[in-house]
Amino acid sequence: MDPLREIAAWLASQPALHVGLETQSLPGPGFRCTDGDYLSFSSNNYLGLANSPRLKAAAHRGLDLYGVGNCESRLLTGDLGLYRELEARLAALKKKQAAVLFATGYLTNLGVLSALVRWPIMARVLGFQASRQYRYSFFSDEFNHVSIKEGIRLSGVTAMTYRHLDLDDLERKLRDTPTDIRIIVSDGVFSQDGDIAPLPQLLELAERYDAAVYLDDAHGTGVLGPTGAGTSEHFNLESPRLIQMGTLSKAYGAIGGFVACDALVAEILRLSAQAYGFTSTLPPDQAMAVLEAMSMVVDEPERRERLWSNQRYAVSSLQAAGVAPLSSNTPILPVPVGDERRGEAVAQTLRQHGMHVDLVKFPAVGLGRARLRVIVNSGHTPEQIDSLVDLIREELAA
Ligand SMILES: Cc1ncc(COP(=O)(O)O)c(C=O)c1O
Repeated sequence: MDPLREIAAWLASQPALHVGLETQSLPGPGFRCTDGDYLSFSSNNYLGLANSPRLKAAAHRGLDLYGVGNCESRLLTGDLGLYRELEARLAALKKKQAAVLFATGYLTNLGVLSALVRWPIMARVLGFQASRQYRYSFFSDEFNHVSIKEGIRLSGVTAMTYRHLDLDDLERKLRDTPTDIRIIVSDGVFSQDGDIAPLPQLLELAERYDAAVYLDDAHGTGVLGPTGAGTSEHFNLESPRLIQMGTLSKAYGAIGGFVACDALVAEILRLSAQAYGFTSTLPPDQAMAVLEAMSMVVDEPERRERLWSNQRYAVSSLQAAGVAPLSSNTPILPVPVGDERRGEAVAQTLRQHGMHVDLVKFPAVGLGRARLRVIVNSGHTPEQIDSLVDLIREELAA
């Protein structure tokens, strides 16, 4: 038996490992599956923009104006002015000089993290001769998103992984690693744990050790801060040391990723990031939709108000029910269930009651540390939150 057949035979005996849920509609937060209607408590459609008439109309306008896809790399004839317009808006949002778009957030992390350390090599193709070789080091939180880990792996640079949010461990590693260029890398909001990176302290350490901070704000953008600009706005911080990454596929309801940084860094990234130059970018209708989504976050503030009032209501209800989430500062509220099989049973019971909550388990988190990743959206009602909390309480008490 070859390894593929061997794995296939084993997988057939492990129904719980089968991933993916075929759906007929997308969470708004209600959605339809072949076996019935469900309410999602795990969608990243935080503000309900993905299925809003205003966002759909913007995407339609994009389709009418530009067609379905651009079929070219931005380095060739795919560099629509619309992308530049969106980049300028994203740069302004993150208070940086420039931004560069990628097809997805995942590709942004792969492309930028690998290119940051390789650009002297890439620039050689253009005739550049470096006066010396620089040693680069990444310092990465252990709970960072997999696309960060993959981007660092692709860079070929050995990464120092520091314990989750452990500033002493990070400082020790910054101090003890002989290197020329230090880059601290962290999620802004951690996707599985829902906690917020201590950005002020990360920037203080960056100052002390002459490092840059690369912040993946996939879950902060559109959600955190008085105007939804993300984690840096939440802390009211700007810094020339900060490189801001984000995705367009969560609160903005579309697809795509971006990095906002100094103009010079952006221009070098356009030349050196293979994931920018050697693939097509997001379709134009998506860029139109994101421009609209960015306006909607600001001029439909009631969406963010509802998101945050639901968040506060869910936290207090979970705490009152004795099932405190692992963190409680963002709409991601992971409820620990421990053992994977117990978690599967709870998730199954929730489904029988028409509620879908993602069960996050090994290898996404450690063995025996399974959790229900409850995510509240602006579209939930207090009654729906009550039903979910009652069910979780009953199941965890059983
Ligand atoms: C922290 C983080 N970074 C990056 C990504 C990738 O974003 P995208 O879905 O746009 O590829 C995700 C998506 O789950 C994420 O949670």
